[in-house]
Amino acid sequence: MHHGQIVGTISLELDVNIRELLYNHPVAHIVERRSNGRPVAYIPILAVDESFRGQGIGFSLVKEALQTVSRPVLSIGWVKPDTGWMAKAIFDRLGFERIAIIDEFWYADSVIKQYGCPYCGKTWCKCTADIVLLDAARSIDH
Ligand SMILES: CC(C)(COP(=O)(O)OP(=O)(O)OC[C@H]1O[C@@H](n2cnc3c(N)ncnc32)[C@H](O)[C@@H]1OP(=O)(O)O)[C@@H](O)C(=O)NCCC(=O)NCCS
Ligand SMILES: [Zn+2]
Repeated sequence: MHHGQIVGTISLELDVNIRELLYNHPVAHIVERRSNGRPVAYIPILAVDESFRGQGIGFSLVKEALQTVSRPVLSIGWVKPDTGWMAKAIFDRLGFERIAIIDEFWYADSVIKQYGCPYCGKTWCKCTADIVLLDAARSIDH
């Protein structure tokens, strides 16, 4: 909150279906193995108002969300052809591990569900996904 105004938002989904989320991509097995079959949380939404970016708000939102769970946390970065993945620095700094970088990750899904992509501008999305995981074995300082 900034003078009563909401400047950023994050959401954390507990116990997500890894295989469904990763479109049954083989990388799901790596995530499951790294998590020792434990439930995995997922961050579907992270956004900070444009005029408030670059002040550490995004970093704080992720850091605080992590403190609410002790399970592994997964995030999928939507890598844009020009600007890359804006939240990459945040996840790297918080110790997330790179599980895989997958080209055209959303391609089949975009064809099946018939959506175009505003980022790559292709009829069917050809963007790359950056899959990162924060291991549950981390120590959390409450
Ligand atoms: C990604 C996002 C939430 C980051 O929020 P933020 O409050 O700017 O994040 P921070 O201030 O903690 O900065 C994080 C990193 O962004 C980079 N950054 C610096 N200035 C920036 C700016 N003006 N705008 C965006 N990113 C900037 C820096 O590399 C910074 O890392 P550093 O502190 O190690 O230098 C925000 O840019 C956003 O809402 N983007 C659009 C939505 C989006 O891409 N969400 C992520 C989905 S995976
Ligand atoms: Zn795309």
